[in-house]
Amino acid sequence: MTVTILGIESSCDDTSAAVIRDGTLLSNIIASQAVHEAYGGVVPELASRAHQQNIVPVVSEALRQAGVGRAEVSAVAFTRGPGLMGSLLVGISFAKGLAAALGVPMVDVNHLSAHVLAHFIRRPGEAFVPPAFPFLCLLASGGNSQIICAYAYDRMEVIGQTIDDAAGEAFDKCAKVMGLGYPGGPVVNKLAAQGNPRAFAFSRPQVPGYDYSFSGLKTSFLYTLRDCLKTDPSFVEHHKADLCASLQQAIVDTLMAKLAAASKDLGIRQVAVAGGVSANTALREAFRSYGERLGWTIYIPPLAFTTDNAAMVAMAGYFHYLDGRFCSMDATPFARVTM
Ligand code: KG4
Repeated sequence: MTVTILGIESSCDDTSAAVIRDGTLLSNIIASQAVHEAYGGVVPELASRAHQQNIVPVVSEALRQAGVGRAEVSAVAFTRGPGLMGSLLVGISFAKGLAAALGVPMVDVNHLSAHVLAHFIRRPGEAFVPPAFPFLCLLASGGNSQIICAYAYDRMEVIGQTIDDAAGEAFDKCAKVMGLGYPGGPVVNKLAAQGNPRAFAFSRPQVPGYDYSFSGLKTSFLYTLRDCLKTDPSFVEHHKADLCASLQQAIVDTLMAKLAAASKDLGIRQVAVAGGVSANTALREAFRSYGERLGWTIYIPPLAFTTDNAAMVAMAGYFHYLDGRFCSMDATPFARVTM
């Protein structure tokens, strides 16, 4: 029997729909929302409105590109949380309406575990070896920095997480004070390529266990700028590349050190990375060199599956569908939820 899952993602500022058939990705459409750029961050109310505008064309295009008719959809999978409440409500309401109209079940998906399960998406014609359980996954995004131990597709444990800011937030906030726009991570990544990662020594947080903290790094970055701007008003302009490279190095070092400790302590050497920050070139490079040095088998997602996307939601939905784990029509979104 063929299983065709339509996935819908609307947890933050990307409206996305994807179709997965028997574990193979047929389409993945993402409409990003440029409206937030002018505000230097996501404005929840504007995000909900943009989702309302985007969701119908995005879902139609996902079905069209997949070559799948509505009658062929086996179930509608949607992100139930965590995320922005208004944004989640758009996706879940649409999923309910569509599932009811098609007479198919709904599958609710945890956004964080969907990021981890992105490593199981098979693309047509691609040589593909998914991770075997258990594996560790570093999930680094604008809202989360976690180390997750995945024992099974539906059994994951967060063994470490940020106690304050997320890694992506540190990229974005430091980029904002340099006037680099939003989201800052990709711009910092680009500028860092021309800079010296040892030019500035920003503080590396000391937090027990596998937890992270990025607020001290952000403060150390701000204080460096404040002090240097007193004597040189064009300091940022002249040192942008070095500032970006040093900031990026501090974030990557911090993320990798805890991950390496977790891998050593738990004896798990299958190690994956996920989330928006996993698009970062230096982090991907660090993964490769840690992998070689420590004998890890590494899993780095294709760029299309790093930031928020519905392919990962459809993938998670596919696993749930095979187990017959559906949700009811009275399901409500969760703004905050762990695994
Ligand atoms: O997973 P994601 O799309 O969703 C949220 O959690 O919102 O992650 C977005 C985050 C942003 O903070 C963005 O700056 C960061 O991922 N990001 C990057 C890069 N691309 C996206 N950070 C560093 N380097 C990149 N190349």
